[in-house]
Amino acid sequence: MTKILVLHGPNLNFLGRRDPHHYGSLTLDDVNRRIAERAATLQVETECFQSNHEGALIDCLQERTGEIDGVVINAGALTHYGLSLKDALTDSGVPVVEVHLSNIHAREAWRRHSVLADTAQGQIAGLGWRGYTAALEALVGIIADDAAQAT
Ligand code: DQA
Repeated sequence: MTKILVLHGPNLNFLGRRDPHHYGSLTLDDVNRRIAERAATLQVETECFQSNHEGALIDCLQERTGEIDGVVINAGALTHYGLSLKDALTDSGVPVVEVHLSNIHAREAWRRHSVLADTAQGQIAGLGWRGYTAALEALVGIIADDAAQAT
């Protein structure tokens, strides 16, 4: 079965309490539940992991490499400077979709640049929690296309 790793970076454990104007009112558990529901209808397996530490996100990614078929990631502020995380995503060798709850292109200048963007297949920003399920759906389609092309 297709397996997708969903990574949440720093401060996303505070969803629901954190700046609801930008990040919405759902908690991280609520978001992960919606991801799991969508995964069930798509008949894929997902694992969600959150950490406030770049190294822990990298450790998780490295441990799962070889078992996973794709990654959905909201790296939080690491998006803007997390070069070790970027390298780990590249090294994973699987397609990556970058997600942001808020529209990072309509906020402060420092949020507009993502060091992960050219590593990712694509980016979804500004759609709130729905960005994760949209990313999952896109990624599953991309993985299926890649597999069909390989045969
Ligand atoms: C975020 C945007 C980042 O700039 C910010 O540091 C976050 C969340 C988002 O989901 O909109 O922590 O990735």
